Amino acid sequence: MLLLPLSALLLLTQPWRSLGAEMMTYSQKTLANGCTLVMCSPPEGGLPGRDGRDGREGPRGEKGDPGSPGPAGRAGMPGPAGPTGPKGDNGSAGEPGPKGDAGPPGGVGAPGMQGSPGPTGLKGERGAPGQPGAPGPTGLAGPAGAVGPQGPSGARGPPGLKGDRGTPGEKGAKGETSVPEAATLRQRMTNLERVVQRLRNTVSQYRKVVLFPDGLAVGEKIFKTSGAVKSYSDARQVCREAEGQLPSPRSAAENEAVTQLVRARNKHAYLSMNDISREGRFTYPTGQSLVYSNWAPGEPNNRAKDKGPENCLEIYSNGNWNDIECTEERLVICEF
Ligand code: GLC
Ligand code: CA
Repeated sequence: MLLLPLSALLLLTQPWRSLGAEMMTYSQKTLANGCTLVMCSPPEGGLPGRDGRDGREGPRGEKGDPGSPGPAGRAGMPGPAGPTGPKGDNGSAGEPGPKGDAGPPGGVGAPGMQGSPGPTGLKGERGAPGQPGAPGPTGLAGPAGAVGPQGPSGARGPPGLKGDRGTPGEKGAKGETSVPEAATLRQRMTNLERVVQRLRNTVSQYRKVVLFPDGLAVGEKIFKTSGAVKSYSDARQVCREAEGQLPSPRSAAENEAVTQLVRARNKHAYLSMNDISREGRFTYPTGQSLVYSNWAPGEPNNRAKDKGPENCLEIYSNGNWNDIECTEERLVICEF
């Protein structure tokens, strides 16, 4: 549609000179035969000829320059939504979540091996006192009665300490000891035996030190003197502070051990027994009556020379006993 007005515009813009020359050429070509009629005589003074016919349509002009851009049109309607874009990068890590609930308890572990046997239990209680000796003949104070029979054995000691926990049992090998465990146990036994032997040696060494020079051991008892001379209550206190007690010989052997210390110091010593609570009934610190005695002839006579009753007990250098006043000062020997 724009072509027609455009060609019209082109025609109008052609210079008139070119158009005239073209018309002249046209005239020469088209009127070649009429040259004799026209060209041989000057045009001036003649009558104008008839208008020629319209020439043929000229060739198409050059393409014009592009026009200036038109005014901006109104904004169009928004287009349809584009296709979904590619996935974006991962976002940054979020805040840590709250602590979860505690999980269920784990399963029960396999039972451990039985522990090794505990050490030997403590020594049993001392047996009951033996029967008193037969009374001497009536009349004059007879000799001391014979030693009563030994009392029954003490009660069984408390069980030893619980053994060490054994190594864990191997899964599935219930009740049986595997070879590696047996080797481990043997090794532990060997180690323990070495420890025990070292302890024996150490105890033996300390025993010698303790007994030198004023101590004596009889069975499981140890008698030792400090060399001090004190009243009964003070002597008793000395032994208490040493976590022992005054001597309580319950047999001839024990009495002899105490006697040796007396002889070594050449001083009569206190024994633990007294008849303070009841005249004539000598008892040990436990309150128990005597299970052994070695009274000197005529003792206990409870006859102080010039003072009160004789409620305490001394031992002579021959091993005999005599009741004396508790205020008397005697050698302090302790029993452990
Ligand atoms: C005499 C008596 C004895 C008494 C003592 C008192 O040695 O024989 O029985 O205990 O004197 O000092
Ligand atoms: Ca006496």
